[in-house]
Amino acid sequence: MGRFLILCLALIPIFLAPALASQSYVVYMGAHPKASSVGTRAKPHHRMLHFATGSKRAAEEALLYSYKNLNAFAAKLTPEQAALLAEREDVVSVLPNKRHRLYTTRSWEFLGLEDIYGNVAESSLWKKSNYGKDVVIGFIDSGVWPESRSYSDDGLGPVPANWKGKCETGDLFGPEYCNKKLIGGKYFLKGFEAEEGPLNTTATGDYRSARDVDGHGTHTSTTAAGSFVPGANTLGFANGTAKGGAPLARIAAYKACWVSLLGTGGCYDADILAAFDEGVDDGVNVFSISLGSDPPLRPFFLDGVAIGSFHAIQKGITTVCAGGNSGPSPGSISNVAPWIITVGASSIDRNFSAFVVLGNNATIQGESLTDQKLDEHTFYPLIDAASAPAPGENSSTSAYCLPGSLDQAKVQGKIVACLRGFSARVDKGYQVKLAGGIGIILINAVEQAEEVEADPHVLPGLNLGYEKGQGVYDYIQATNDPVATIVPATTVLGVQPAPMLTSFSSLGPNTLVPDITKPDIIGPGLNILAAYTEAVSVTGLPGDDRIVKYKIISGTSMAAPHVSGVSASLKALYPHWSPAAIQSAIMTTASQKDNTGKAITEMSSPNASTPFAVGSGHLNPNSAADPGLIYDIHYTEYYKFFCALGYRKGYIKAISGKSFECLQEVPKVSDLNYPSITVSNLTGTQNVMRTVTNVGSTKSGYKVSIINPPGVKVEISPSTLRFSSIGQKKSFTVKITKVSDTTDYVFGSYTWSDGTHSVRSPIIVKTGGS
Ligand SMILES: *[C@@H]1O[C@H](CO)[C@@H](O)[C@H](O)[C@H]1NC(C)=O
Ligand SMILES: *[C@@H]1O[C@H](CO)[C@@H](O)[C@H](O)[C@H]1NC(C)=O
Ligand SMILES: *[C@@H]1O[C@H](CO)[C@@H](O)[C@H](O)[C@H]1NC(C)=O
Ligand SMILES: *[C@@H]1O[C@H](CO)[C@@H](O)[C@H](O)[C@H]1NC(C)=O
Ligand SMILES: *[C@@H]1O[C@H](CO)[C@@H](O)[C@H](O)[C@H]1NC(C)=O
Ligand SMILES: *[C@@H]1O[C@H](CO)[C@@H](O)[C@H](O)[C@H]1NC(C)=O
Ligand SMILES: *[C@@H]1O[C@H](CO)[C@@H](O)[C@H](O)[C@H]1NC(C)=O
Repeated sequence: MGRFLILCLALIPIFLAPALASQSYVVYMGAHPKASSVGTRAKPHHRMLHFATGSKRAAEEALLYSYKNLNAFAAKLTPEQAALLAEREDVVSVLPNKRHRLYTTRSWEFLGLEDIYGNVAESSLWKKSNYGKDVVIGFIDSGVWPESRSYSDDGLGPVPANWKGKCETGDLFGPEYCNKKLIGGKYFLKGFEAEEGPLNTTATGDYRSARDVDGHGTHTSTTAAGSFVPGANTLGFANGTAKGGAPLARIAAYKACWVSLLGTGGCYDADILAAFDEGVDDGVNVFSISLGSDPPLRPFFLDGVAIGSFHAIQKGITTVCAGGNSGPSPGSISNVAPWIITVGASSIDRNFSAFVVLGNNATIQGESLTDQKLDEHTFYPLIDAASAPAPGENSSTSAYCLPGSLDQAKVQGKIVACLRGFSARVDKGYQVKLAGGIGIILINAVEQAEEVEADPHVLPGLNLGYEKGQGVYDYIQATNDPVATIVPATTVLGVQPAPMLTSFSSLGPNTLVPDITKPDIIGPGLNILAAYTEAVSVTGLPGDDRIVKYKIISGTSMAAPHVSGVSASLKALYPHWSPAAIQSAIMTTASQKDNTGKAITEMSSPNASTPFAVGSGHLNPNSAADPGLIYDIHYTEYYKFFCALGYRKGYIKAISGKSFECLQEVPKVSDLNYPSITVSNLTGTQNVMRTVTNVGSTKSGYKVSIINPPGVKVEISPSTLRFSSIGQKKSFTVKITKVSDTTDYVFGSYTWSDGTHSVRSPIIVKTGGS
């Protein structure tokens, strides 16, 4: 039986309750044999299904997708049939068709693409790349709201001649919704329906087409590549020109995420792979993916995102993924394959300051995006929700203002203090309103510390950080008839310090491959304004009829498209660069400082952030346009990486299309030519090899500078590199020696500089036994 199925069966109890075991699977065989033509690629899939199901008819009924760009198919199978296929020599892995979930404009100015007056300097990546002209970004997400002005094609030239995609006909969608900006809209539903049954458009409100009911796909796609839209705002907040990161890039939507009656997350592996497959054929240049599954992580060949993106990079297509919203627990990062650019989320220099004024005149600052107002000169009664449980409930549910937990008699006419956690933030406001309350003060739990996500509550209200919230609780406790009022929010710019790492951004170490540190980079992901669906209200709550064209959302989902936009611009500027070159340019030019000149910090901790939090640092688009040197990786190098991971030789051969052999001497994971270096088990000395390619000045000389991780000595030889032509490669050895035992990971860096360019790589080390 195949190694990967063994792993996957072992993991099933962790991922799925037995009753929910998959009814469909993806059978993965690596690359198509070199000789096979596109037209004949499905035939062996039909034969294998015939073999597994016992008849031609059953095979036809079972088949969901036969993929063209990777040798794989998806089918409805029993666990026994899946096991039978997994035993075959020609099968690399059999993946249960698993659910993933979505990791749910001023940001471009904050990133330096323009100044505060909207002027774009010559050195801006926007200018240099002609705003990402004609590069196509494919979004595997929840679709698009095509009427949004952010998809306007004013000023765009004809659709790129080699583009093969289209807007597929479906519910309220079709070719008439495509223009020169939105050039594709397809949907992939068979994997979802195989697991959850037919999409119930009545019950979910979803559309059987690329039209977006969730809003997530509209938000991510317009963040990365939306057209300029002046006067964009949400309920009057954050008013300004909405802009995508690559404003002249094209958008192709591949809807693989559906509203699920089983709870959040209706993006299935089989559909994600189908989206990759079509996107590759259509001519996508960059995939932007804001979805995933949190740890425990599955091996690469059991993960649809890892497999799909691996076959994409072989065609020169970059994949950018959100790293997940499960911070600040260590080891929570997902989408960790080295061929993926993994993105964490940081704040920008904008907030939406509102205030609560307590009866003792103490004023506490928070944030809000609601357009609902109290008279700020009148005090209203204030109550801690913990002291207002409904009959049959208790303070542990009412403190969080969970559905039905509040006693109407106690909260009627009052401002209610609720704790964050266990239910949607805007739903807590809705519960307060349902129970007759007139305002909400939503207070962070200790984990979220002072990080505040601003919300468009259905009633007057604001959100407070943890420490600030204690002031409210203390006042209520100490006072007989506590009162308060709420001063509505205004948009504040120039906030310091920024960026800060958000507390939700998932953290390293990488639990699947510790010697590749993730995330790679952080970008804006807190309170980001972009276009939204008009199918639902701003909160989606019953009785809320506030439809908005633009909405502020937070998540690594919002950070990833910032990096996709920059990747697309880099692709426009350097059409022949590999995905690894684009990744390297983004990582080695990242910044480590905030706008006060200090090291970037985390909202969940006062400490300076480590590469497990911020990767190489904060996205710095203009520097990425001129990185000087790059760490390139040809996709065949990943075959060696699979050898280093100990993957079975037969599988690596299959993935490589039958030509690759692992060397006798097993390579090390840390020798992959990655733009950061991680040695997770250092005993004595380890030499790590790296090769850089000159993409800066024709003639140049670089010198290295090193910051040793505490307790570790790093030596690099040679310590100078001379280049005499563009494209020239030079290799060097990084000798990492343990000086003293370190109990945990320690961090340093090395930087090549020629006076103009700074090419920085973090070094992450943990020492093993002596
Ligand atoms: C779809 O949902 C609606 C409303 O919840 C329900 O009445 C209907 O029976 C469902 N249809 C199917 C085919 O399940
Ligand atoms: C947004 O800004 C524009 C341009 O400055 C202005 O005309 C418009 O009234 C503003 N809208 C809101 C809601 O503040
Ligand atoms: C709060 O401030 C107001 C106006 O300045 C003042 O009249 C009132 O006495 C103050 N209340 C307390 C408790 O200090
Ligand atoms: C409070 O109510 C919840 C849900 O009804 C219950 O699970 C919990 O045990 C109760 N806690 C106490 C302290 O009674
Ligand atoms: C918003 O930014 C301003 C200016 O930096 C700062 O004084 C204020 O504390 C911030 N508000 C919140 C809630 O963090
Ligand atoms: C902050 O750093 C100190 C000193 O290195 C360490 O003891 C502490 O655990 C860190 N705190 C957090 C929240 O990481
Ligand atoms: C670390 O390396 C030592 C010596 O090479 C080895 O014995 C040990 O198993 C390794 N530990 C891990 C966690 O890989």
